Amino acid sequence: MVNESRMPEGLEGFGEFLVGMPPRMGMELVAGMLQSNGCPDANFDARELVRMVTGEDPYVRQDPLTEEEVIQLVTLAARRFERYPLQYLAGKWPFLNFEVQVGEGVLIPRADSEPVCLAAIEKAKAVEAPAVLDLCAGSGCLGLGVKKFVPAAAVTAVEKSPEALVWLKKNAAGALEGFSEEHPALIVEEGDAFTWQEGKAEESFDLIVTNPPYLTADEMLVLQAEVRFEPAMALDGGVDGLRFYRHIAEAYLPLVKHGGWLVAEFGWLQWEAVKAILEQAGWTEVTILKDLEGRPRGAAAKRP
Ligand SMILES: C[S@@+](CC[C@H](N)C(=O)[O-])C[C@H]1O[C@@H](n2cnc3c(N)ncnc32)[C@H](O)[C@@H]1O
Repeated sequence: MVNESRMPEGLEGFGEFLVGMPPRMGMELVAGMLQSNGCPDANFDARELVRMVTGEDPYVRQDPLTEEEVIQLVTLAARRFERYPLQYLAGKWPFLNFEVQVGEGVLIPRADSEPVCLAAIEKAKAVEAPAVLDLCAGSGCLGLGVKKFVPAAAVTAVEKSPEALVWLKKNAAGALEGFSEEHPALIVEEGDAFTWQEGKAEESFDLIVTNPPYLTADEMLVLQAEVRFEPAMALDGGVDGLRFYRHIAEAYLPLVKHGGWLVAEFGWLQWEAVKAILEQAGWTEVTILKDLEGRPRGAAAKRP
């Protein structure tokens, strides 16, 4: 018998089916439940939820689900059913070959940002001990990627949201091996990208990497159900989505050393507009970077 008082409201009775079931069957039941509310990748998510609860892959584990596991599984599945992001339930998510901690208040790192980060790493590798700025850092995934593959880099991460800063600090201390609160991987600074550059010395950085908010006002109105749980501040790029690029292209150019680089992510329909903004501000050798599906999703641009 399942202790029904510990089951999520409306799902009392659901646990009876699951207790004693092989994890693989439990996973299939949860997948069906998620699918019925339009969760994309329901099979993947159900497998991850079982793994979170049991610590084992449902395809491998033979022992039947216990009552305690079922209560946890149904509680998580009920949240996911509401389209709450799987990544927030997991509390961590992989980026390149490390994991960052995530939760409400911070944007979940996207696989689409990895090619942008790899381009930044390549630029950073060309300098002996590069000074790098991760502007609009969120979880810190981009700056951490650079630090991971270019350990000699000094990476400053700037973020405005107090909620995101909590996650950024956690990841600066704990996402990469060998770092701690006392000795973080990133120099974390609270700051507004629109003013942070004021008073900063010219040519402070070899590289700026940035994934600023870039959704248009129209896109903000039709967000996917999961994305609505992520902070609007991480998404909203102003009416045409280009507010941040206009400012960064102009105001941050002097902060980059001659011959240094800006690597920026954007939405795939924005590449022509961003390229034009960069060139107009004086950046050269603008190269467009493609995401995993081959869509234009980023640019590398050089300060002449
Ligand atoms: C698209 S998210 C990118 C986060 C992270 N770099 C990544 O790739 O996952 C943009 C980030 O910019 C932050 N942000 C929004 N407005 C800002 C501002 N004016 N100054 C600094 N950061 C800002 C948001 O809080 C969010 O963390």
